[in-house]
Amino acid sequence: MQIKTIQLHNYRCYEQADLSPCPGVTALVGGNAQGKTNLLEAVVLCATGRSHRTSRDQELIRWGEDAARVYVAADRTDGSHEVELTLRPGLRKGIVVCGKRAARSGELMGHISAVLFSPEDLRMVKDGPAERRRFIDMELSQMRPAYYYELQRYNRAVTQRNALLRDISEGRATSASLSAWDSQLAKSGGAIIRTRGAFLARLARVAEENHRELTGGAETLELLYQAGAPEDEEAYIRALHDHMDVDLRRAATGVGPHRDDLVFLVNGRDARSFGSQGQQRTVALSMKLSEMRVMRDELGEWPALLLDDVMSELDPSRRRALISRLKGVQTMVSCTDISDLAGADIGEIYTVEKGILTRREG
Ligand SMILES: Nc1ncnc2c1ncn2[C@@H]1O[C@H](COP(=O)(O)OP(=O)(O)O)[C@@H](O)[C@H]1O
Ligand SMILES: [Mg+2]
Repeated sequence: MQIKTIQLHNYRCYEQADLSPCPGVTALVGGNAQGKTNLLEAVVLCATGRSHRTSRDQELIRWGEDAARVYVAADRTDGSHEVELTLRPGLRKGIVVCGKRAARSGELMGHISAVLFSPEDLRMVKDGPAERRRFIDMELSQMRPAYYYELQRYNRAVTQRNALLRDISEGRATSASLSAWDSQLAKSGGAIIRTRGAFLARLARVAEENHRELTGGAETLELLYQAGAPEDEEAYIRALHDHMDVDLRRAATGVGPHRDDLVFLVNGRDARSFGSQGQQRTVALSMKLSEMRVMRDELGEWPALLLDDVMSELDPSRRRALISRLKGVQTMVSCTDISDLAGADIGEIYTVEKGILTRREG
């Protein structure tokens, strides 16, 4: 996939921007707080429907303005694709896909495909399970709109079941009324767990290979998927049933994919607790490279790669390994100093200053 055009209007610090990234590596160079991440974030927004930094659209609208617009057009093997988003405070996103207004946010998925690698990806390794589930969900939703809808259904069902749990414990409903929700949860949650399981199994194989390569054979990486419920429907319902007393006490559902986790084992040990900062960073890099690879296999073409300020944090050998993977992958890479990209085959350089992009000649 090739991004042809990125246009921003009143998005974050940009009043107006119009960029046509080259097919190879486009470098975005600028000091702190000039708008590099904002630009990449806009692409993420068109690819996934959400920003990686905030869930509040209001923050994306340029201060003092009442609407923001983001437009990304890309060429894929099956033709050209366009996503246009309009953000207004307090309103749902206006979404236009290939010239047609979309009724549901899931409709924007699958048109612009991008993988973002940023320093925050370290959180996937270091932070709690919610970060890892977010990574899995962003990924799967981007590749499969059906998964995204299933997730929405599931989350709604959990919220409703939790409300019912509260009603039961306060005597406004009987526990017999739970069973309808339990079968719905088992159906939807089971489907999510099966999809995540299959995806993670593929990711694990690729990640293991990537990690071995990145560490020159010194480290192994294993991914362990810890599902929050059995994937089999009947077993799932039984698990819900067995957990009912605790659920009633807490007015919260304790079984299901919203409790999933993913463990990264480096040389057999949990990288979250025992990994050094450097090892954790390498895990994040292995995961990103693997995500890109799995997406390519699924989509039949490379997604765009967005590298946000990660070069300066990698040691020279990891940096070289990353750069060697960029062949044939359209890449947008931000950095504060162009020397961070030494060794990369840079197609174009833009300077980013106070929300203004300037193409550097020569
Ligand atoms: N809604 C907004 N309106 C105007 N400016 C914004 C908005 N949100 C963030 N900014 C500004 O954008 C800048 C940060 O841009 P960012 O892309 O994160 O910088 P960097 O170049 O370091 O990646 C900051 O100066 C911040 O004040
Ligand atoms: Mg930044």
